[in-house]
This record gives sequence, structure tokens and C-alpha cells, in this order.
Amino acid sequence: MATASPLRLPLLAVRRSWPCCPRRGAACPSAGRIRAAFLRFFEEKHGHRCLPSAPVRPRGDPTLLFVNSGMNQFKPVFLGTADPRSELAQQRRVVNSQKCVRAGGKHNDLEDVGRDTYHHTFFEMLGNWSFGDYFKEEACSMAWELLTEVYKIPKDRLYVTYFGGDSSLGLSADEECRDVWLSLGVPASHVLPFPMKDNFWEMGDTGPCGPCTEIHYDHVGGGRNASALVNQGSPDVVEIWNLVFMQYSREVEGNLLPLPQHHVDTGMGLERLVTVLQNKRSNYDTDLFTPILDAIHKGCGGPRYRGLVGNADVGHVDMAYRVVADHVRTLCVCITDGIYPGFTGAELVLRRILRRAVRFCSEVLHAPHGLLASLVPTVVEVLGDAYPELRKSADQVMDIINENEVAFLSSLERGRRIIERTVQQMKPSENFPAEVAWSLYGNLGFPLDLIDLMLEEKGIHLDSAAFNELVLEDAKRKARGPQEGRQLEGTVVHLDVHSLAQLQRDNIPATDDSPKYSYKLGQHGQYEFSPCQATILMLYRDQSLQKEVGAGQHCGVILDRTNFYAEQGGQDSDQGYLIRLGQQDVLFPVESVRLCGGYVIHEVTAVETLRAGDQVQLFVDEVQRLACMTNHTATHLLNFALRHVLGDSTEQRGSHVTAEQLRFDFNVKGPVTVEQLQRVEQVVQDVIKRNEAVYMAEVPLALARRVQGLRALDEGYPDPVRIVSLGIPVETVLTSNSQAAMQTSVELCCGTHLLQTGAMEDLAIVSERQLVKGISRVIAVTGRQAKQAREVGQCLAMEVDSVSIRMKQRRSTSVLEMQNLSKEVGQLTKVVASTTMPQWQRKELQSTLKSLQRTANTAIKKLEMQQAEEKAQRLLAKHCNHPVIIDTVPADSLSILMKVVNQLCDKSPGTSVLLLSPQDSGEVLCACQVSKNCLPVFSAADWAVAVCTQMEGKAGGSPIVAKGSGNAKGMQGALTTALEFARSKL
Ligand code: ALA
Repeated sequence: MATASPLRLPLLAVRRSWPCCPRRGAACPSAGRIRAAFLRFFEEKHGHRCLPSAPVRPRGDPTLLFVNSGMNQFKPVFLGTADPRSELAQQRRVVNSQKCVRAGGKHNDLEDVGRDTYHHTFFEMLGNWSFGDYFKEEACSMAWELLTEVYKIPKDRLYVTYFGGDSSLGLSADEECRDVWLSLGVPASHVLPFPMKDNFWEMGDTGPCGPCTEIHYDHVGGGRNASALVNQGSPDVVEIWNLVFMQYSREVEGNLLPLPQHHVDTGMGLERLVTVLQNKRSNYDTDLFTPILDAIHKGCGGPRYRGLVGNADVGHVDMAYRVVADHVRTLCVCITDGIYPGFTGAELVLRRILRRAVRFCSEVLHAPHGLLASLVPTVVEVLGDAYPELRKSADQVMDIINENEVAFLSSLERGRRIIERTVQQMKPSENFPAEVAWSLYGNLGFPLDLIDLMLEEKGIHLDSAAFNELVLEDAKRKARGPQEGRQLEGTVVHLDVHSLAQLQRDNIPATDDSPKYSYKLGQHGQYEFSPCQATILMLYRDQSLQKEVGAGQHCGVILDRTNFYAEQGGQDSDQGYLIRLGQQDVLFPVESVRLCGGYVIHEVTAVETLRAGDQVQLFVDEVQRLACMTNHTATHLLNFALRHVLGDSTEQRGSHVTAEQLRFDFNVKGPVTVEQLQRVEQVVQDVIKRNEAVYMAEVPLALARRVQGLRALDEGYPDPVRIVSLGIPVETVLTSNSQAAMQTSVELCCGTHLLQTGAMEDLAIVSERQLVKGISRVIAVTGRQAKQAREVGQCLAMEVDSVSIRMKQRRSTSVLEMQNLSKEVGQLTKVVASTTMPQWQRKELQSTLKSLQRTANTAIKKLEMQQAEEKAQRLLAKHCNHPVIIDTVPADSLSILMKVVNQLCDKSPGTSVLLLSPQDSGEVLCACQVSKNCLPVFSAADWAVAVCTQMEGKAGGSPIVAKGSGNAKGMQGALTTALEFARSKL
């Protein structure tokens, strides 16, 4: 929601409780009140708009693993790429408390967590922003006012730093900032310059950046001058607030481009601020952590947390407390925001965090299994008021943590044994082999720092040089391939910040892309797309705007208007071509289309020279577009049907629409059953059959916010927003007492849709699987493809039926036939698993095939036993209590022959038996068993080897039973050998 934060404590009430610090024992403000006071100060006193925290899963920013700073969600505003119609683009002053994760990527604190008392993987960043509004003077004075007058932090404990310049980049010292601080009364001895490393803030390897000024707090105080300790990693003097003056954009090539406008971006770590205001020395001693540490203590029953660090922390017990408390907060926030422990990117990092926490729980704290998940309710208690979404997903978070814990504990056990074995084999003074560490990391999913720790505990070092080489090789391997393709494409369709600013400066109007919605149903129900003509306003190539692009070159084309749909809202972009007016036979293919700061960029190969001013006619590939429209409407319908069948708590977690298929992720408890899948398809088909109208209309954001049941709107949505409603006109949906959004599909969507549902013809869910516990992914197809999937499903169902009938008929006939049927079942099982067909049917057929396979196996065993019994009876009668039976007998398989031998020996204990069975193929099977009385002189394995060697074959087995095979030509000789061998042993 775009409303203010739920924190509604009046600022004055908060103020009355201060000053609480630095007197020990005074009533301390809670973290909740400190957070609220920050938001109120900027909102009420300085006219900022209070926005909610963005999810920690970055939205549409591939340069980030996690949201790692309050400014991430505002990156498009800094770069000028925000949709100019969005509420976000209208903001000038904003304040919020942002959930941040720093674990991987440029800002990575994972390694420090637990070792000290003030680094975290998850933390809350309090921030205020000016988007092209106030700058250095106001930013510094507001910060000073808040800290010293509202929070009443003694001024002599504060130190400020400013950017000291960088001659290699031609950047001079930020004297303006220094002078602002001096004018606010900060003594010169507390105003300190620092180089790039400390006072130039960058979001990532690329993106907005600028000089910054930091405010540091001296925990010791007492009139001393602590300026020498600033930025020295001392736990006594820590940075609490960073004020960044966003002036540049770091480009892919590493150069700094000045931003078109100046902005302010500040970030204060709530945990550190609370430590100061609650007069503590460690973040873990504040009320943000103590309830969690208490819960850990209760859960593991060991010694209490004592706050020790380094060597004083014997056995790393306190470190474990800190790691577990920190990591469980991160897990709660990430899983709630849709990052699940997994195998790549942020998900991999989260998996490592989870594993690290589990390891500390079990190995250091000796906690019972399940401790980590049991901490979730406490985390929710601490953070739930500020971030209510945590309350909704607590159960799911616990399930996911528990599931992963079980998996990891079993590999932890194996890993420990591997480390122990390796250490035993190592010579003293030898380093731990890199390959073993790498294998623990790669195969058992051990976090690297965990391996280090486990070795450190044994006083052993890793062969780091060799290990780093392995890391490097791996990184190189990962960097090759698809990345390169992306880069190439990106350079044409993503405007760099400068080109974008230049377009705006030159008053090039944003592209009018409303013609993308300009289509109607013709007389015979076919879709008619309106023609579209446009003028080329600008071309883009090699990161610069150009008026002309030569033949054969790849470029971005900016037009005054377009009917091409640019990739957004999970729908693939249109393809097609342009022609120049009056030059019908030269086609300029459009490969993809992107939106950037309101400009639609068409990725085009200029088969001939293209110039700004050229008039073009636009041709969208209508077949592809219609398929996307069909699948997009189908996605809405599917969303609705899933909610209808699985319950209102079912929520969309992601979707992707292409011309070929649609993908839809949603939360669900437990597996989706065959019956539920069928019902979902049925609900969709009913709407298709009713050929309901699809209503689309743009409405003011404020009005849309009132619609019941519509998912939360954030500031990224353009105003007005587009509402898509099935079967019920948008005006009805908007009426104040309408329940329409609960009864049909109503969504905010900028995609292109069918005008009536009938054209979808059909929808088949062709795959459904759990991505992680609680989240399912469905793939569905529509129209002809859905029909085809059903036909294929029917054919396979018939084949399965046919096998089933034949199996019933022949269950008591021949082993060979049953074996052939069993093979058929095996083949069908493979086909059913890999063919595109309705998922409910796949599941049904899979369970039928499984039971057919069981029936076949039982029948084969039974038939073999019967046959063996008959043959054994006949042979027994023929050989009448001989101590050795050697004979030939027809048998379909070696397993039957063996059974005959077994039964003969059972019925006539004391007899040794060797049987040969010639096959149509020319092969002779051999099976034998020796009476226990004859051991050890007479060995079955030797007997079979002697006989089969005579037939130029092979044999093997134990002293009691053995089997083999050979060639029919040697069979007579083999029988003689068998007899002679037996005689020689008896
Ligand atoms: N974006 C700045 C930081 O994260 C404020 O430190």
C-alpha cells in the first residue's frame, strides 16, 4: 500500500520519553518507538511522504542479489528511468524504513556476522530522500536536528566525515559539505575528510553513486577526542548514518557520468541507532535481539548469552548465539518476500545462511533439531508491527526452515566424517587439501566460511592458494555463455542514463504506445489490429543517441508512437517489422521491444540506413501477439480459478506469458491433487464457454485502491492504472459496495488481452510441480495446443488401458508374455513422464502404470514359481534320490532355471543339482546348487565355471549356488564335464 507506515506513535509522545541516554537505568525507548520517531520526524516536520519497505527480493534489477539499501527501489528515479506517470516519479521527498540484506554482491557482511556485535546480514535502514529537491545543506541540518534535538544524542559524541577528493578521477574534495557541518556548529576537530573508499558510496558495480558524508558515534565519550578512531574498525566508534549526495551514474565501462539531477539518499542502520539510544555497547543487547537470544537459550538449554567476542568467547558459544539470531531474522524476511533457499543467486546465498545457522545450532549450541524454526514466532513478534507481511507467512517460513534443516543435517554428518578422515591422513604442518574443501562446498553444499570454521576449530588451515584457483576457475566458467548474449542485447534496448537525460532535456516526448491497445473484433470474430504509422525521433547505438544508423547495424529505434507491446508485466514483447513509407519492399525486423523511462525502444536491424525523421509503418506479428493476448487472459483466468478451487489465501507469486505457454507461480499448502487440477481446468473452461467479455479501462490509482480484493498497489504503478476485469464492467467493479473483484477475475494489468474469452478455446495445465515447499509452478497451454495435449493424453490413456486389459487376460499364461507386458509398462511410464498432456491425466496414468508394474512383477514371480515346481517334480521323479542330478530342462529364463534348481534341492536335501537349458537363440543357460554336506570340497561356483568354460561361456556365484551361460555347441561336452567334476568331488 502506498499509505503511510503502520507505525503510528505520535512523535510528541516519543519525544517526552527522551532523553534516556546516556544515563544507565533510565527508561529506554523501544526500537519500535525509535523507528516511528524517525519516520514521523521527516513526515510531519519536513514534509516527506512515508513509503512502506520494498520486498528484499529486487524487482527487475539484475545487478542486485538482495535489496541492500533503502535507495534500491528508487534507482529508477535517480536514473530518470521511472515511468513518468507513476506516483514514484512524482515524489520529491520520501522517508521509510527499509528491510535490507547484505550477504553477497558488493555489500556483503556475511563474513563479519557473529564475530563482532554490529554487523548483520539483515538490518533495517532508516532513510530519507530528496529527488531533485533539497541537497547538502538541508540534508545535513535535518540529520543533525534529529540526532541531537529529537534523539538528544550528546553532540560531543558525534563525528562527521566528508569526501576528501580523488585526483585520479579528477574529483575534488567536498568542501561544500564540510562547510555545512561547520556552520551547524560541529567543531572542526570532529569534521574529517576521507578518501573514495570511505566517503564515496556506490550501489553496485554500476548504478547511481556519489560522495557521502557519514555520522559516527563514540560509545566511550567522556570528553575525549576520538577522531583517530573514526573509520578504523573500532567497535567503540561506529558509523550510524550515511548521507549520500547522488551526483553520478557508474556505467558498465566503469566511467562516472554526472546525473541530470542532484538527489539525496540517506541510510541509518536502525540496529546501531537503537544500541546508542538504549545505551548499549552491542546491537545484540537491544530489544531487537534480546527476545531472540532468550528464545535460543530456552530452546537449547545451554549457558546464557554473555556477549563475549574473540578469544574470550571460548567455544564460540556467543558467536553462535549472534549468528543464529541474525540469520533467523534474514531467513524470515527473505522467505516472506519470496526468496527461498535454492541453488543459484540469492537463493543459493540464503541456502548457505540457513545451513550456517543450522550448523551453529547443532554443533556449537547442541540444540535439538527444529530450534531454528522455533525462533520464527519470536522474530515475527519483534518485527511484525513494522513489517506485517511477516505474520502472514510465519507457518510457511517454519516449514521451509525445518525441511532444509533435515536435509542439511544429514550432509553435515557426512561432511564431518570427510573432514575427520582427511585430517587423519594429513601430515602435521600440511594444509587441508583444496579439492576436498571444494567438494564439500560443491557436492554437499557446505558454506565456505563454515569449512573454514570447522578447520579453524581443529587448528588447521586450508590450502587457500589452491582453493582460490578453484574458485576463480568456477567463476570464469559461470561467467561464460548466456551473459554475453544478454550484454549485447542490453546495449541496444537499455538506454544509458545520459542518453535518457538528453532525450528529456531535448524535450523528446515519451512514446505514445496507446496504439498497442488498438484492436477490435471483426465481423467474423477475427481480431483486427489497427495500422500504425510513426516517425523516427531518435536512434540509439553504442550507448549514444544518433540521428543516423548505417546499413547492417543493430540499433534501438525511438518513435513518436508505436503499436508494439514492450516487455512488461510478465508478458513477452512483440516482434514484427517496420517499413519506410513508400519503400514497401525493405523490411526492418523488430526483434524485441523494451520500455525505458517512458520511451519505447525497438531493437531493430537496420538493413538500410535509418534516419531520424524517417516515416515508418509498423507491422506487429499478429499471430504472435494474439497468442500472447490469449495466454495473458488465460493467466488471469487461471489465477482466478486457482483461488476459487484452492481457497482465498492462494496468491500469485510470479508469472510469465509467451506466445507458446504461460507460467504461473502461486502459494499453496501441500500438493495439488488430480481432482483439484481437474476442477481448476473446469472453472476456466466454463468461463471460456460463456465467451465472457473482457473489460479494460484506465482508472485513477486512488479509485483502484478502493476495490476490494485487488492486490496491493505500490508506487511503481503508473497513474492512472489499467484494470482488466472478466465478465463484469470496470465501472461496476469500482462502485463502492461491489464485491465483483471477489467473484470474478479483476487485476491491475498493463498487458494486452482478448476481448472475449471464447477465443481461448481451451486451457490445459500441462505441468504442476512444487518449486519449494508451499510454492507451486504451473505451466499451461491454450487453444490448439491445449486440444493437442488432450488428444495425446487420450491416446496414451488408451494405450495404458490396452496393456491393462491384456495383463488381466494373460496374468496366468506365459512368463515371457508377462515380461513383454512389463517392458511395455516401463516404456509407457517414460513416455507419460515426458509428453505434453494434461497434468491431472499424467498423474492418473502414472498411478495406474505403477500398479500395473506391481501386478506384472507379482504375476511373473508366481508363474515362474509354478513352472519351476512342475519341472522340479518331473526331474525328481526321473532321477529318484540320486546324490547328484545333472540334466537339461526347458526354461524361459535363468531366474526360472535357478528356481527349479532351488526347489529340487529343497525337496531332496543332500542332492547337488546342475541344470542346463538350451535357448532358441543358441545360448545355453546354466544353474547349479551344491548340498551343504559336500562343502567345502565341492564348490558350486567352481562347478559352474568348469561347465560354462566348456561351452565357451562365463559363470560365477558362491560355493553353494552359481549360474552362468555358454554356447549350445559345447553342451554335450559340458554335461560330461559336469558329471566328471561332481564325481571327482564326492
Ligand atoms: N545508500 C546509502 C547506504 O546504503 C545511504 O549507505
